[in-house]
Amino acid sequence: MPHSDLTASHAAARLAGLLDSAMDGIISVDEGQTIVLYNRAAEKIFGWPASQVKGRPLELLIPERFRHGHGAQVRQFGRTGVSSRRMMGRGGDRMVYGLRANGEEFPIDASISQLDTEEGKLYTVILRDITDRVRAERELATFAAEAAGVREQEKTRIARELHDELAQSLTALKMDTQWLREHLQADPAAARDRLDGMLALLDASVAATRRIAADLRPLVLDDLGLAAAIEWLAQNFTQRTGIPCELDVDEALELPEPYATAVFRIVQESLANVGKHARASRVRLRVAREGDAMVLAVQDDGIGFAPGAPRKPQSLGLVGLRERAYLLQGEVGIDSAPGQGTRVQARIPIVAAPGEGA
Ligand SMILES: Nc1ncnc2c1ncn2[C@@H]1O[C@H](COP(=O)(O)OP(=O)(O)O)[C@@H](O)[C@H]1O
Ligand SMILES: [Mg+2]
Repeated sequence: MPHSDLTASHAAARLAGLLDSAMDGIISVDEGQTIVLYNRAAEKIFGWPASQVKGRPLELLIPERFRHGHGAQVRQFGRTGVSSRRMMGRGGDRMVYGLRANGEEFPIDASISQLDTEEGKLYTVILRDITDRVRAERELATFAAEAAGVREQEKTRIARELHDELAQSLTALKMDTQWLREHLQADPAAARDRLDGMLALLDASVAATRRIAADLRPLVLDDLGLAAAIEWLAQNFTQRTGIPCELDVDEALELPEPYATAVFRIVQESLANVGKHARASRVRLRVAREGDAMVLAVQDDGIGFAPGAPRKPQSLGLVGLRERAYLLQGEVGIDSAPGQGTRVQARIPIVAAPGEGA
């Protein structure tokens, strides 16, 4: 065998190996849209073995509703003389779709290139199945809408509390003050009674202000640091509910923002849920740093629930909790079943802020 032939077959074999090791599907068609090349990734993506598609029209791999437009698009591309470009779908979503051997339609990301050869034009499409990405994008969009709803309802709730608690108390105090101005001298005993009432109302208003402020921002976190703030949450929880809380938190635990707030809020909501729903006799709370991630778990031995079951739309706690973790690239798992207690777990990777430590 002449030397050059050996090299040529060698090169062809190398090329075939290269094409087959590519992660993307690679399909070439001739001018008549007949498939002449079809790599292993394409076999996986479309579900057809190469032996069954080579020599057949490309239409085989295109959903019926796009077949007509596709041929025209390729011919038009051929006329442009541009060497390669991204393929775009028509219509609203501008997506390109493929058709699997089992009849399933799926979204693809594809680019097309053309090459003039001695046998005419050769079009090569390099494509990727983006089903997972599209699904993730849709989930993210749904999630973002839910999260926006959570925030709006939070603001509404705080606005209502400010209005109901503070504005009303202040109005009452103003009326009492006016009353005092008129009756102070004539009826000192009644005035003293009125003042006692005002003091009680002031105390309640101070407490309400603290509570509303704490809803907006856990100041205890700024004042005490994360580990102590979590301890404070646990003590507070036990005081309110009588349920003992076993703590497993490293005293030296510190985290930069926004991680500290996220951890605090997730623990806060999880404990609130235990108090509100679980009818538990004990809770275990663990917060720890594991390498580059923050992990936390809140486990109760209460009545549990079915996490997958449809929930009332105003239930925002668990959604908010997911949002917090999600926005920080973390994840939340909720293990629960009726009668089995509940375990809320979160894992959030800690990404050092630029300029912060090595
Ligand atoms: N620890 C728990 N034990 C039992 N049920 C729970 C627990 N946490 C959450 N749930 C259930 O999940 C639902 C949704 O919780 P959440 O989103 O926090 O909303 P909310 O607390 O406002 O009801 C609750 O209404 C409750 O039925
Ligand atoms: Mg809740």
